Amino acid sequence: MSFLYISKIWRITPMDDIKIRKAVVDDIKTIVLLLQKLDMFNYPDIDGETALRRVLNNNNAIWLVAVKDAGVVGSVRGCWDGSRAIVHQLAIDKKYHHQGIGKLLVDSIIQEFARLNIPTVSVTTTEKNRAFFEKRGFSKTEVFLMLKSLDT
Ligand SMILES: CC(C)(COP(=O)(O)OP(=O)(O)OC[C@H]1O[C@@H](n2cnc3c(N)ncnc32)[C@H](O)[C@@H]1OP(=O)(O)O)[C@@H](O)C(=O)NCCC(=O)NCCS
Repeated sequence: MSFLYISKIWRITPMDDIKIRKAVVDDIKTIVLLLQKLDMFNYPDIDGETALRRVLNNNNAIWLVAVKDAGVVGSVRGCWDGSRAIVHQLAIDKKYHHQGIGKLLVDSIIQEFARLNIPTVSVTTTEKNRAFFEKRGFSKTEVFLMLKSLDT
């Protein structure tokens, strides 16, 4: 039997060999490597080690990792502004795809937001993963993401 660790409460999960816990500084290098392997490391200024250290120190950010076989195999981040919450950058090691880990991480971060009494949560994703998030209860909206670089 394994346990899900969220917000200092241990909960039993249906998956015996996977633990979900909050990310710590020692996870950063592994996560950067994971993002690189998945071709999700397009903006080092945003997702590099320095930025990820800032995430860990941000009280409005939630960052969970999945641990299996004694190593971090997945990660998800999210943040809220006191009203709206958003989930982004879900990433699972390819070796561990289709084992229910993505599902467990998304459900876990939603549970964290629910605990904060936030009424809705959004996710940034691509068409390729739309069906995955629909299975988790998300539906597509008319709103989409626009990006502006703040480089001088
Ligand atoms: C998308 C991703 C997170 C899925 O993780 P995973 O651990 O393999 O997914 P799970 O095993 O938890 O799958 C849960 C369910 O979604 C389905 N699913 C998994 N990937 C899917 C996809 N890309 N499209 C549609 N359904 C998908 C599974 O079949 C499963 O269905 P079931 O509950 O009916 O059995 C993973 O493929 C990944 O990390 N991809 C690269 C990064 C990425 O694209 N991230 C998402 C954008 S932020």
